[in-house]
Amino acid sequence: MCPEELAVADDAEALPAEEIEPGDFDGSDGDSAYGAPSVASLTETLNSEIAKGVSEYGRTYAAYGNEEYGLPIDEAELDRIDMSHAKYKMLLEKKLCLAPISDHPQRILDLGTGTGMAIRSFVLSDINGAAQVSGPWIWLRSIHRQRCVSKMPDPERRSGLQEQVYGVDIAPTQPQWVLPNCRFEIDDIEMLWTWRKESFDLIYARDLLLSIRDWPKLVHQCYEHVKPGGYVELHCVYPKLFCDDESTPYDSGLMEFSRTALKASAAMGTPLAACVEYKSYLEAAGFENVVETRFKLPSAPWPRDPRLKLIGAFELHNLLNGLSAMSLRMFSRAFGWTREQTEVFLVKVRKDLKDLRHHSYYEFIVVHGRKPQSARE
Ligand SMILES: C[S@@+](CC[C@H](N)C(=O)[O-])C[C@H]1O[C@@H](n2cnc3c(N)ncnc32)[C@H](O)[C@@H]1O
Repeated sequence: MCPEELAVADDAEALPAEEIEPGDFDGSDGDSAYGAPSVASLTETLNSEIAKGVSEYGRTYAAYGNEEYGLPIDEAELDRIDMSHAKYKMLLEKKLCLAPISDHPQRILDLGTGTGMAIRSFVLSDINGAAQVSGPWIWLRSIHRQRCVSKMPDPERRSGLQEQVYGVDIAPTQPQWVLPNCRFEIDDIEMLWTWRKESFDLIYARDLLLSIRDWPKLVHQCYEHVKPGGYVELHCVYPKLFCDDESTPYDSGLMEFSRTALKASAAMGTPLAACVEYKSYLEAAGFENVVETRFKLPSAPWPRDPRLKLIGAFELHNLLNGLSAMSLRMFSRAFGWTREQTEVFLVKVRKDLKDLRHHSYYEFIVVHGRKPQSARE
């Protein structure tokens, strides 16, 4: 749903408008002495609550969604995920997607789109790395700080562009001005989807961290909504810390953080280790030709190779600036830690993180699979 029409079902993909008679859902008993709030005013209230979010530990969290999302949705976090987009593009050598989709898939859905960086790159047909994410997109995001998305013009009617791309998120953190064939919606992807079944060429999701309670259900919904012959592709950083040369001590701050975060996320119901199961989830749902690719993501600029060194510098920045965001709600929900307890724990993590003698890395896991051509709902 677009934030400004939360009470109204989405366009062509949901119920046809004529099936809903005006007044069917006004909630009034017809003869109440009191003026019931109108749908418009209820929608307005809901919109502003969603846009405002919820404050905790000095951060802003999503106000919408059936279950809690563990990361904040404020400016600092949005800057972090934009920076991560640039890092992942370097890691995947400019590719957004590894599935062998055609150069011009017609309909793409990005789950948990965040600031919509990935989906806006898809709009630029930047699927196989041929095009660059241009500066103006970042510029557009930073000047349009009012993030509530207004109703986009109907992409099918307004655009001569081939792809129709949809980004969905529980938080209205997307820019207002995007190409007409790009549309953002507010919805909880753990709920029942209202898009037409078998209508997407590609369903894509990246870094759904501390977000999803039931991965098999989500992957099943992907299967139902991808066209036969279409693809699903999931990307995620696996925050288990690896080190091939024993240079990172077991008790280093970053190792300790990795173990604690994996434990806490599982206790919260959103395990950060879920990405190692993506391949088996896709296979169980019925996808074929399922391929898993793992990339080494250095935790700091310790590698000699200039490309990996730069990626490591991005990751160091990501961790130094993002550790609180990643930890506050997760450690509070899992262990009952206060903000102060979490920040004290993070002091040693930050210190050890900067030690370039520690050759540690994470894995970035990418899994894609195809829905069989023969599959029909
Ligand atoms: C870490 S961010 C990643 C954003 C984006 N995919 C990227 O890679 O830049 C995770 C996103 O998932 C969204 N999210 C979390 N739970 C969700 C849910 N149940 N339904 C829809 N979006 C969700 C969050 O609001 C956030 O924008």
